[in-house]
Amino acid sequence: MNPLNSATVESAVELSATEITKPRPETPVRQSEPQRLLFKKSARTCKLQGVRIRSIGSYIPLRVVTNGELESQYGFEGGWIKKRTGILERRYAAPDEGTSDMAVMAARRAIANSGVNPADIDLVLVATFTPDFTCPSTACLVQEKLGLDAPAVDLQAACSGFMYALATGAQFVATGNSKLALVIGADVNSRIVEPDDQGTAPLFGDAAGAVLLERGTPEQGLVCYQLGADGAGGCLLDRPVGGTLRPVTPSLVAEGQHFLKMDGRNVFKWAIQVVTETIEQIMAQAGVGVDDVKLFVLHQANIRIIDHAMKVLQIPPEKVFNNLDRVGNTSAASIPVAMDEAFEQGLIEPGDLVLMCGFGAGLTWGTGLFRW
Ligand code: UT7
Repeated sequence: MNPLNSATVESAVELSATEITKPRPETPVRQSEPQRLLFKKSARTCKLQGVRIRSIGSYIPLRVVTNGELESQYGFEGGWIKKRTGILERRYAAPDEGTSDMAVMAARRAIANSGVNPADIDLVLVATFTPDFTCPSTACLVQEKLGLDAPAVDLQAACSGFMYALATGAQFVATGNSKLALVIGADVNSRIVEPDDQGTAPLFGDAAGAVLLERGTPEQGLVCYQLGADGAGGCLLDRPVGGTLRPVTPSLVAEGQHFLKMDGRNVFKWAIQVVTETIEQIMAQAGVGVDDVKLFVLHQANIRIIDHAMKVLQIPPEKVFNNLDRVGNTSAASIPVAMDEAFEQGLIEPGDLVLMCGFGAGLTWGTGLFRW
């Protein structure tokens, strides 16, 4: 079988259809009743090889925001952020810096690292849930700023966005419909969090990461991957106001309903469950053990979620790359930024297997075992 055309659904068995019972509120008001924590999962996995990451680049904005700054500015409980998340500081975009600006910076670094002619880029995908504008897409802004002759489109899967975009870009490359695809994850989270919400604001930071995809050897690419969604849990992490169903009004803005709302405790419980299960599935399906994987790069949401997965899966710390202590949760940028840093440090080399796992709002998750 030609691996370039081997994107197959290897299993289509739905394991469970249990639901979160919390209804989507009619009014954009958070509800606090207890939930049944039964989440959907999927046994579907796919593979898509013959694609390689030609190069990678990332950008984190200059302004460092420390826990101490947030604690003194908003009266957050001293030490809570570090203890409950592992985050020490994060970066905030400058006031005049948008998601597309950061995406362009990351893309320029990926292009510089590859030595390719930008004129050869024939596809732009931007994963973001903090676009510059609702319309036009951030991808079109990036295409214009880079002067590319390429179709451009945004993908929105929040913190799983990069994994969705990577898998999407890989399909274009594998079919030959893209020779050089620019895949970016970028988010300016500092603009959508409620500054004095201790359970949400300190977790998030701003960043962008980019990869260039092209055809590789039959062994390179997504040896096994899974993209999943559980929309029943959408209300656990959302922006209730600002879309077409509940447009912004002065009173809703005054109430702060346009900010990101997170039921952190229940997202945490979902995350520790989904992350371990999806990684286990991917590794079992691919027939690889922990020793075969060079590096695990998980979405940088909370060190306790990562540590839990590592403990359950018996993955030694030296095989896990984390940078959330310095950058916090950068949503769609989280995985490509961490991978870029790991690559720069020589922790990833051609031929290595890297396990990436993103998870977040939607609810969504995306896990991929990638042969570099
Ligand atoms: O990027 C998008 C995804 N976002 C996230 O992943 C954020 C997830 N949430 C969090 O990071 C944390 O919940 C906050 C930092 C927002 C708040 O932390 P916290 O208030 O200290 O709560 P927690 O995370 O320690 O606990 C959440 C729940 C608790 O359940 P109850 O007591 O509220 O019913 C913990 O007992 O998760 C429970 N929990 C565990 N359950 C099973 C904590 N550790 C475990 C565990 N196994 N290992």
